[in-house]
Amino acid sequence: MSGLALSPAEAESLLAFWAEAGVDAMLLDTAVDRIAAGKIAPPVRPQTAAAPAPAAAPRVRQTPQAAPEAVAAAQAAAAAATDLTALGEAIAAFEGCPLRFEGAASRAIFSRGVADAPLMVIGEGPGADEDAQGKPFVGRSGQLLDRMLAAAGLETRVFITNTVFWRPPGNRTPTPVEQAICAPFVERAIALLKPKALLLVGGASAKSMLKTEEGILSLRGRWSEWRSSDGAIELPAMPTLHPAFLLRQPAAKKRAWADLSMLAERLDRPERP
Ligand code: URA
Repeated sequence: MSGLALSPAEAESLLAFWAEAGVDAMLLDTAVDRIAAGKIAPPVRPQTAAAPAPAAAPRVRQTPQAAPEAVAAAQAAAAAATDLTALGEAIAAFEGCPLRFEGAASRAIFSRGVADAPLMVIGEGPGADEDAQGKPFVGRSGQLLDRMLAAAGLETRVFITNTVFWRPPGNRTPTPVEQAICAPFVERAIALLKPKALLLVGGASAKSMLKTEEGILSLRGRWSEWRSSDGAIELPAMPTLHPAFLLRQPAAKKRAWADLSMLAERLDRPERP
């Protein structure tokens, strides 16, 4: 772009015009190498198998070789957090996830809900509304999610978070590497909250949490088991359709409703002595 000098009022009006037209991310003309600048750990691509995988293997997600230093830093920061407030602070201070530097307001979006919730809801990643308001699931998708949780009698019994804590530019799906870097924080949140069950909202959440490449349409509607990376925690997990999908495909709402009904029934089931 040429060096056009704009007054603050003109710049404001131009930005408003772009925002209305859906241009909500700004990119420089030339790329900035933030890895060379030492801002972020170098991403390492997921390992690709040299030979074709055997028939049964491809559905299992290959653990991405996600910048091991970033994962180690996330693990250390997460382990040091002794409650959910401290965990939120640790995430806010964390600089190892590239998303933090890729167009989000650079504010971490961790959670909303109650700190002793029996249900943890895990979405994919924050969008524009979440970035603006600093909380997960507060835009149109979040409002639909809230209505569905309320209809199932769950709205006051949830702790809501995402697989990544910064908005992916242009609302793209978070990559497996970004999710793997943030995963120690998600795991720590589960360990601290001690929910009875997980609701995995959308394909990107279900695939990341269950370490599978199976699609959401085949995962939803049946119980999966989530296991912590050290194997110490096992929890029932219900994958379901993302509310953004339901807004586009309202006819699919009945399937999401069936998922939430199964979940509510399980949470309300008396515990065996
Ligand atoms: N979609 C998500 O997956 N998470 C949010 O927080 C908002 C929209």
